[in-house]
Amino acid sequence: MTTPSPSRPGTDAATAPPPGCPAHQSSGIGAGGLRRLFGPEADQDLAGVYEKLRAEHGPVAPALLHNDVRVWAVLGHSENLHMVRTPSQYTRDSRQWSAVKDGTAGLDHPLAPVFTWQPMASFVEGAEHQRLRGAVTGAMAGLDHRGIRRHINRYSNKLLNDICETGRADLVGQFAEQLPMMVMLHVLGMPEDYSERMVQAARDMIKGTETAIASNEYVMEALTRHVVRRRAQPEEDFTSALIAQPAQLTDDEVAAHLRLVLIAAYEATANLIANVLRMVLTDPRFRAQLSGGQMTVPEAVEQSLWDEPPFSAMVGYFAKQDTQLGGQQIKAGDGLLLGIQPGNVDPVVRPDLAANMQGNRSHLAFSGGPHECPGQDIGRAIADTGVDALLMRLPDVELAVDERELGWRSSILSRHLVELPVTFGKRPPQDVKARPMSHVPTPRRNWEVSSPMPQPFPQPTAPAPEPVAPAPQQPAAAPIRRKGAWRRLLEWWRGY
Ligand code: HEM
Repeated sequence: MTTPSPSRPGTDAATAPPPGCPAHQSSGIGAGGLRRLFGPEADQDLAGVYEKLRAEHGPVAPALLHNDVRVWAVLGHSENLHMVRTPSQYTRDSRQWSAVKDGTAGLDHPLAPVFTWQPMASFVEGAEHQRLRGAVTGAMAGLDHRGIRRHINRYSNKLLNDICETGRADLVGQFAEQLPMMVMLHVLGMPEDYSERMVQAARDMIKGTETAIASNEYVMEALTRHVVRRRAQPEEDFTSALIAQPAQLTDDEVAAHLRLVLIAAYEATANLIANVLRMVLTDPRFRAQLSGGQMTVPEAVEQSLWDEPPFSAMVGYFAKQDTQLGGQQIKAGDGLLLGIQPGNVDPVVRPDLAANMQGNRSHLAFSGGPHECPGQDIGRAIADTGVDALLMRLPDVELAVDERELGWRSSILSRHLVELPVTFGKRPPQDVKARPMSHVPTPRRNWEVSSPMPQPFPQPTAPAPEPVAPAPQQPAAAPIRRKGAWRRLLEWWRGY
């Protein structure tokens, strides 16, 4: 196994193609004979490129990012965990990346928006990380999680009311992408009518379109105005709690962390909801297990976090010193790609990819170590409760096209569905405060989540019900079984 060292960033003069040569740019192999993680081959099948790298180099492989910037792709499950859990050797501070220092990965690099250093929890370490992250987690600790689930339920039903009379919908654009933004704006204490514009702006920023800078400015201006308002007049929300943390964040720091939370939550949770819905609609394994009661919605969400993690990789981690990882010699200043998707399918931890991962939460979807996602319970709650509400309201929902016609948008960072067109029986809207349950009898399908469905029942009006999805579980806890719909209805009726 010969491994050209990616420790020297930039292109190898001897093998580098002439700049701008279209024949070379479209090739899957770039400078130094290394595989590219971008371009036509990677766009078509990045997971396949990772598997070739794994076969050729083992759990840590040299590869190329855009502009043929060298990086170590960390493919092994334990190697990824070791990297994120060893802050003495690896940092998220991109100013230490030699490709940034020598300008190879400059501000014009296509991935610059995700690796350019900013004074935020994601890029700092040590005492400064503790100060900024501590403020975020301190503010999160004050959130009323039961209340949030109630709101997730309410927003889900609002979105379902918008589509239920039409009998068809695109569950990506009309549900998965809307729900996390509505919930997060509520958590931040921002007015609901921001939602549509924020979804558009956030999408635009992430896609890196020509208007991305203007969209980012729109989001930052809206957040900064909100911070100024809450500084003057605190309310019971995440923004006011963040301002009140002992870390005493400045207005700019508060706005930057609201943006971090909003964008992290929006993009990842929208992907998660779309992926779970697609699996439920297309994968016979899921249908059978959900209909047979061997799998709950939270378990389906967890399986999706293994099979299709919302962020497939992150750019990245940077070596603080010369070291070894997965048998490779890593030099101080080298960049490393946190390989979430390839780590999740590492044959060392998953010899059989078809095997059910039920009860096993050791996937890399939320990373690990000091930067591990602090919002994972909120992300899970939005996905669990949203998917649950949708399947309860539209139990006859079916894919409107052949699965092979579904379009995907791929990048190194994530792979997500463009649309999820579905059909279902038309039904009237519901009181949004009510339990998510259709009172129109619906023909049963073999994959319904609960059994048996209750008889048509007078529409409850008040009070707003308690959340229906189980609370997030501790890592080692046995999965909580989802109660049957009849039992849940009775519990609601009795006021539990
Ligand atoms: C399914 C949904 C989500 C997924 C898959 C996800 C995943 C991730 C990942 C992979 C990271 C990077 C960790 C690293 O740098 O090693 C991260 C960081 C972060 N996430 Fe999430 N996330 C999700 C939802 C959320 C939500 C809902 C929030 C807020 C309410 C949130 C807030 C954050 C923050 C603040 C960080 C930076 C933490 C730090 O650097 O210390 N995330 N997330």
